[in-house]
Amino acid sequence: MSVDLATEINLQDELILDPDAAAALFLEARTANSFAPDEISEATLQAVYTLTRMGPTAMNIQPLRITWVRSAEARERLVAHMNDGNKDKTLAAPMVALLSYDTDWHELLGSTAPHAAGMAPMFAENVEGRLAMAANNAHLQAGYFVVAARSAGLAAGPMTGFDNAGMDAEFNAGSTHKSFMVVNLGKPNGVIDRPRLHRLDFDVATATL
Ligand SMILES: Cc1cc2nc3c(=O)[nH]c(=O)nc-3n(C[C@H](O)[C@H](O)[C@H](O)COP(=O)(O)O)c2cc1C
Repeated sequence: MSVDLATEINLQDELILDPDAAAALFLEARTANSFAPDEISEATLQAVYTLTRMGPTAMNIQPLRITWVRSAEARERLVAHMNDGNKDKTLAAPMVALLSYDTDWHELLGSTAPHAAGMAPMFAENVEGRLAMAANNAHLQAGYFVVAARSAGLAAGPMTGFDNAGMDAEFNAGSTHKSFMVVNLGKPNGVIDRPRLHRLDFDVATATL
């Protein structure tokens, strides 16, 4: 895989990833709207989750919950709640992950953060703070999820264009899970359907004090 590392620095000199890995995870990876038809195995999904869960979360709370929407029947139910522009590609994707966050992550503190288990009653009372932590940390985990999928040779198409309340009624009824993202997954098919959009320069997006 050729990698264009042209930048003001010699990027590769600064990385511990080899050029192919840097390309696959970041530099050449694109948000995918279509995929190769290959089925995605259960083992691949387990590999994606195994990497995803290692990314850091506040107090190690790990609020992300994933529903793998593989069957045609479940896919139809999911797509019914997607925005029109997201429907066809979601129906056609080899695998789809519905990402939710668990609002009641504090109930698992005994295993995820035994040192902080005593804070569970405080979080039980503090609903607003608990939901903010759930949403913030699950979105972080969604980022890890996309990079984990790429690490397993998959392309990812994250989307927030759907009816969250409808999706929750369909898939999360009776649970403490709230949907926040749908991610289409599949092997890359090499199709680039639009140019890469501009990424902000170092001087625009960062400041050194
Ligand atoms: C949180 C999030 C929500 C997104 N929602 C949608 C969506 O609803 N529909 C869609 O077509 N693309 C959606 N996208 C895709 C983005 O437009 C795309 O990732 C971005 O333009 C970067 O594209 P690139 O990875 O090919 O450079 C979403 C991406 C993210 C990360």
